[in-house]
Parts: sequence; structure tokens; C-alpha cells
Amino acid sequence: MSYLRLGVNIDHVATIRNARGGAHPDPVRAARLAAEAGADGITAHLREDRRHISDADIERLTREIDLPLNFEMAATDEMLDIALRHKPHAACIVPEKREEVTTEGGLDAAGLHNHLTRYCDALKEAGIRVSLFIEADKRQIDAAVALGAPVVELHTGAYCEAEGEAARAAHLERLREAARYGAERGLEMHAGHGLSFDTVAPVAEIPEFHELNIGHFLIGEAIFSGLDSAIRRMRSLMDNARAGATGRVGA
Ligand code: PXP
Repeated sequence: MSYLRLGVNIDHVATIRNARGGAHPDPVRAARLAAEAGADGITAHLREDRRHISDADIERLTREIDLPLNFEMAATDEMLDIALRHKPHAACIVPEKREEVTTEGGLDAAGLHNHLTRYCDALKEAGIRVSLFIEADKRQIDAAVALGAPVVELHTGAYCEAEGEAARAAHLERLREAARYGAERGLEMHAGHGLSFDTVAPVAEIPEFHELNIGHFLIGEAIFSGLDSAIRRMRSLMDNARAGATGRVGA
């Protein structure tokens, strides 16, 4: 089975920094540490309201970090300009609402087709790999194909938050089917949102996934065990799952 990349989302290092202002803790230092701990990429979401990652963080991440940067952005002209200026390795288009606590659902790639075309085309033309953050839904996957996006990231939030075995299994099956459906149509499949030590293994076992993007849990876990240890443990759970072991905590 192919190698599963780990993208570490460092947004919430910036959340803690911004709670007090100043420069500590520095998300770029976290990105450097993530690289040493085995991350394959860094993900950062520059929100319209700048609640965590700042423009200066994006500038420093592209300049100072060797790992590929996955720049999460809303489909707005302001974010497109920033992406074109910094030319990150990848841009993941996400839905964004000011009042939400986190990215609550996937992008409506089908409904927003006309709006998204210009953004996808401009990013692709600049050599930035476009990805769309969508729900595990065939209609949205078809829309991503029609938009010419080479990558989609499936939202794993509903799976992670599902209460009870049956509900979780049903969400996992949706992810499995969508991953297969997208891969058959030539898309590179990624997944993320809400993943933890307890929920990562079944997703990592889905062979079509090439990359998982994980942030909030790792930054929270770093309080207890350190960021290096949290990332290494996540990396090993992913590797074990890929190798066919259960990889689940406590198993
Ligand atoms: N992938 C995307 C597209 C996201 O928007 C986020 C959250 O910013 C993540 C992955 C990471 O989610 P979490 O922080 O819950 O691990």
C-alpha cells in the first residue's frame, strides 16, 4: 500500500500566541519541529478575520520551512492574491464563515461551481496544486472533477464526532466509498478534520488516501506529551494502520 503523508496543521499554535499577543509560541518554530518529528507537510489556514495564522506567518512559512505548505484559503480575491504572491506548494479551498468556531462542513463545490472556476484556474495556472475540502459525497466529487481540481480532501468531522459504533461505522463507510469513487476518477484523495489517536487508524487504513491533515488534536496533545512525541505517535499509528496492524490505541 502507498505511503500515507501527514500534514500537520499549526493554526492553533497561533491561536495560543494570539491569546496574549506577542510572538510566543511561534507557529514557524512548531512547523520546524513538526518536520523533525516526521511531518510530510505543513498546513495553515489564513482566515479572513486572522484569528490565528497571520499574513506574516504565511510569509515566514514559505520562506523558512522546507516542507511543502498546504495553504488553506476561502475562495476570495484577497486570498487568491496572497496565494499568488507566496506560491505555496498547494492551496486547499475551504468554506469559511466568520461566526464559525472551525470549518464546520465541506465546500459546496457543486453549488458554487461558477464561483470556484476562476479561483481553481488562477491557482493552477500559477503552478499551485489545487485541492477542494468537501464532504464524502459523490456529487461534490463530480463537481471537483468538473472544476479540474487534481486533489480533494474529504471532511472527516462527522466521522470523528459520530456517537456510537453504528453511526461511526456508517460515516467511515461513506468515507471509504467516496475515497474509492474519487480515486477511480483520477483524483488524489486526502482527508482531515477532527482526527485523533482514537479515530485515525480506520481512516489511515483506507488505501486511496494519500494524505491526512491533522491539527487541533496534535496541538492539544502537545500540552501533555510535547509536540514531537504527539506527532511521532500519530505518524506511527498511521504507519501501523497502513501496514495492516490495527494501530488503534489500546489494541
Ligand atoms: N483539513 C482542513 C481542510 C481543515 O480546514 C482543517 C482545520 O483547519 C484540518 C484539516 C485540520 O483539522 P483539525 O485541526 O481538526 O485536525
